[in-house]
Amino acid sequence: TREGDVYDRIVQSGEPIIIADVTQSNSWQQVEWLPVNKSWIGVPLFSKNRVMGMLSLTRIEADAFNQDEILLVSTFAMQAAVALENARLYDEITRFSELLERMVAQRTEELNDAYRTLEKLDKNKTAFISVAAHELRTPITVMKGYLGMLRGNPNIQIDEMLTQAVDGVLKGTDRLHMIVNSMLDVARIDSQVMKPHFELTEILNVVKFVQSEYKKDLVERNITLEIEGVKELPHIMADPQLLQKALDNVVVNAIKFTPDGGTVTIFGHEITDDRMGPCVELQVRDTGIGIDPANHKIIFEKLYQIGKVELHSSGRTKFKGGGPGLGLAISAGIIKTHQGKIWVESSGQDEEKLPGCTFFIRIPLPKKQ
Ligand SMILES: Nc1ncnc2c1ncn2[C@@H]1O[C@H](COP(=O)(O)OP(=O)(O)OP(=O)(O)O)[C@@H](O)[C@H]1O
Ligand SMILES: [Mg+2]
Repeated sequence: TREGDVYDRIVQSGEPIIIADVTQSNSWQQVEWLPVNKSWIGVPLFSKNRVMGMLSLTRIEADAFNQDEILLVSTFAMQAAVALENARLYDEITRFSELLERMVAQRTEELNDAYRTLEKLDKNKTAFISVAAHELRTPITVMKGYLGMLRGNPNIQIDEMLTQAVDGVLKGTDRLHMIVNSMLDVARIDSQVMKPHFELTEILNVVKFVQSEYKKDLVERNITLEIEGVKELPHIMADPQLLQKALDNVVVNAIKFTPDGGTVTIFGHEITDDRMGPCVELQVRDTGIGIDPANHKIIFEKLYQIGKVELHSSGRTKFKGGGPGLGLAISAGIIKTHQGKIWVESSGQDEEKLPGCTFFIRIPLPKKQ
């Protein structure tokens, strides 16, 4: 270069270099098309203690820079270096944020893809449940018809063994029928064709109906069912049949997961919900095995059971008896159509300490005009 080795010297020393007359310096190479300026001053530009460049000034006359000017150039070079460094950092940050944006966009796209795949798989599952349930329903209806005939036949009624056998098959068929109906309910909820018929509903009637369903099972399992505060509740706008189904699935679980001798409580009161305003709240408490907090959300998904499913039986209320894992999905779907919410609280699952759990159902009260 024109300056010869001065740049290298500045980089190495980090100090300004002043040349009084470049024409006297033998390493200086004058470029033809540039004016011959004799005085030359070069100051280093620092970035974090490293020289990243040089600022040079020239004057026509020899030895034309005084001390003040040298100081001024050095100060200017310092500020210029800071400005350059800032510009470089800004550039870096801009490039980094562009990179981040691109990465986020890519990840979002991947997540959307995964979500769409899962959604499709879930639709397949629902379609399968629906087809299977419809196919099963017809033969079950036929079986129930013939079994009813057999049950009423005098030849069978006089034979105790045969009567017992027919009753056993009938009971199993009823359970099958119930499962098939649950499958249809879940398919209806998933494809959003469940349409509630709202009417002014007294919750006590719904609770009493559910209670009456399990009188026999409660005696058999020596479980006490207590009802508290429900009588005082105001009427709500609800579909009584659907509400009964929603509550039934919660209560039958409470019985199923509580050992013999325990207590199930249905408690009701009015409460103001942060989001929904004035509501009625039903709590179903049990003294059973409880539910691990990790599972509190997922149990409301269809086909989900915790733990082993070897205990499947024909009874609905047998202790820890298995089921297809549809009950709570149906309850959640029904409560959703009522603009309400459902959740569970429990400190954990423990078959010895029996922490129990409490299911909460909140349904908004009709708005007063
Ligand atoms: N009161 C409860 N105490 C302990 N565990 C419970 C309770 N209620 C539900 N669970 C857990 O949540 C799971 C899902 O319940 P859900 O009612 O949806 O299905 P299920 O009872 O297994 O089958 P289904 O209701 O279709 O017959 C249950 O298998 C059980 O593990
Ligand atoms: Mg259940």
